Amino acid sequence: MSKLRSSEITPEELYRSRRAFMRQTGALAAGALILSACGGTTADTTTASATTTAVVDPPKPGTPAEPSTPYEAITNYNNYYEFSTDKEPVAALARNFTTKPWTVAVGGFVAKPKTYATEELLQRFPVEERIYRHRCVEGWSMVIPWQGFPLRKLLAEVEPTAQAKYVRFTTISRPQEMPGQHDSYYSWPYVDGLRLDEAMNDLALMVTGLYGKPLPPQNGAPLRLAVPWKYGFKSVKAIVKIDLVAEQPTSLWMTASPDEYGFYANVNPNVPHPRWSQSSERRIGETSRRKTLLFNGYAEEVAQLYTGMNLRTSF
Ligand code: MTE
Repeated sequence: MSKLRSSEITPEELYRSRRAFMRQTGALAAGALILSACGGTTADTTTASATTTAVVDPPKPGTPAEPSTPYEAITNYNNYYEFSTDKEPVAALARNFTTKPWTVAVGGFVAKPKTYATEELLQRFPVEERIYRHRCVEGWSMVIPWQGFPLRKLLAEVEPTAQAKYVRFTTISRPQEMPGQHDSYYSWPYVDGLRLDEAMNDLALMVTGLYGKPLPPQNGAPLRLAVPWKYGFKSVKAIVKIDLVAEQPTSLWMTASPDEYGFYANVNPNVPHPRWSQSSERRIGETSRRKTLLFNGYAEEVAQLYTGMNLRTSF
């Protein structure tokens, strides 16, 4: 793990305001590393154990009243195990990550496999702003103004064939720039997937920007997924390969801890993670906890994907 302190690479004023912000929000709560919801360690000590704080009612799903989480928090409180299993060092460790040139190969069971350069994707698919709730299985959440284009548009262009039932996303392998990829505990590269009909849902977004700026490396530049009704670990960063496949993909987390991480990972307050309740969450920037919503508040858009499925067993 790098011994670089963020104070050494961040302008002093920015550094101080960030520290103050993180301290205020509890993001820097010291000590007590707990085994991470994502399988490693995390310093989010205020997750499910913070039962003494009040739980406030959430606004109605879709209510646009929720303020976006500050840019500073979105870009400095990151889960990105290729760089570090701790959140705070990620931004500094990812700062010089090479994101140009970059291509993503879309293949598998498709009629028109194609490798796209990022520039071509941006030309081909108009970029939209989508403000999404982002809920990590560790029990924290944010509201993020992403820019990107719907995944369904990219998939339609390559024409999935009848055998295609799932979509598998693969992160780049680059251990020379990603120190975490030397940690043999995890089965690199990071992989996760969606059922094809989930991937075709309009909410599934290929993200290229944040707050109107290019996506920073720590948030998955140049191209990451946002699947807002699922826990954050499904939103794969730094994607280089998208394969249409016949069998349900096995994700990095399913391999690392099969009892804790299933394929679906839909946000569900009624199905606790084996080590944490998922009934409430801490919105970064707030002190009290709020109730977690089924499908992270996107039931109207996605509940029909799971008709007839037992959401307790298909976690
Ligand atoms: N993608 C890759 N390649 N590597 C990761 O470690 N972490 C996941 C997801 N995508 C991860 C990843 C997890 S656990 C979460 S919560 C989100 O990214 C965090 O996204 P953010 O840092 O933009 O908030």
